[in-house]
Amino acid sequence: MSRPQRLLIDTDTASDDAVALMMAFRSPDVQVEAVTIVAGNVPLDRCVQNALYVAELCGYEGPVIAGAGAPLMRALGTATEVHGEDGMGDIGLPLTGRTPTPGWGPQAIVDAVRANPGELTVVTLGPLTNLAIALLWAPDIVELIPRVVCMAGTGLHGPGNVSPSAEFNVWVDPEACRVVLRSGLPLEFVGWDISIASAVVTPERAVAIRALGTEFADLALDVQAVLETYADTETELDGPDLPDPIAMAQVLDPSVATVKRVHVDVAIGPDPMRGALIVDRYGFTGGEPNVDVVTAYPEERFFALLADRLR
Ligand code: RIB
Ligand code: CA
Repeated sequence: MSRPQRLLIDTDTASDDAVALMMAFRSPDVQVEAVTIVAGNVPLDRCVQNALYVAELCGYEGPVIAGAGAPLMRALGTATEVHGEDGMGDIGLPLTGRTPTPGWGPQAIVDAVRANPGELTVVTLGPLTNLAIALLWAPDIVELIPRVVCMAGTGLHGPGNVSPSAEFNVWVDPEACRVVLRSGLPLEFVGWDISIASAVVTPERAVAIRALGTEFADLALDVQAVLETYADTETELDGPDLPDPIAMAQVLDPSVATVKRVHVDVAIGPDPMRGALIVDRYGFTGGEPNVDVVTAYPEERFFALLADRLR
């Protein structure tokens, strides 16, 4: 049997992060070394409690460590209108009273990477604040990380989901995204374009997931309650989309993805350009290609991976 994939997961745990965490926790060929928490979808303490709830449900007993409660240089912008006030669909889950592991997210990233050189895949499912702080504080870690998969951005030229051109994780902390983009890390970006193309839970997909008949499948659907309404009224999708889970699919099986390596920068200024990725598809800037941007991920493969981890 091949060695397990060892993951460091950084997350602003809300409804779609929760499904991505379940996919990782319930993959037999994956070892989650640590989960670090960043503020994003909801304030930090709620992200922490949501992650601890999912960890308990899945029997994950490793570290869950709180990190940055706000972006590097801006006030926190949340997405409660998308995920609910509690981030988990406001369906009344018992999301309080659990205790995180002592420590601080950016330090946990640095410590884990230094202790396991060349071994850990870093997966980011939220704003890049924790990873940026780790890089600013300990730039030596760049050479020690063999792979980074980020749910971030809008692909080559996809639509924004928080402004015309910006995806939420990048929009929350564009300065952190620029630190990551200029770090030299081996980056793979899975954008919101991939989520709306290949990870929309249509009514038919929901029936198939519900038919799995497990508490994991039920939770994966039930916590999307607010997102389902948001999809119907705002994004005009045929159901809630799952950006973090399809980013986790890229972690678990990159073999089926189509990627294009390009130079990517990010707009730092105010809205409406705040957090827009500047994707230099044709090399106009002469900038060194620094990101493998996923341009397609097969829908059938995603939902097969998802079902396999929720059954
Ligand atoms: O734009 C989608 C991303 O923003 C997802 O990670 C979602 O959880 C939110 O963090
Ligand atoms: Ca997220």
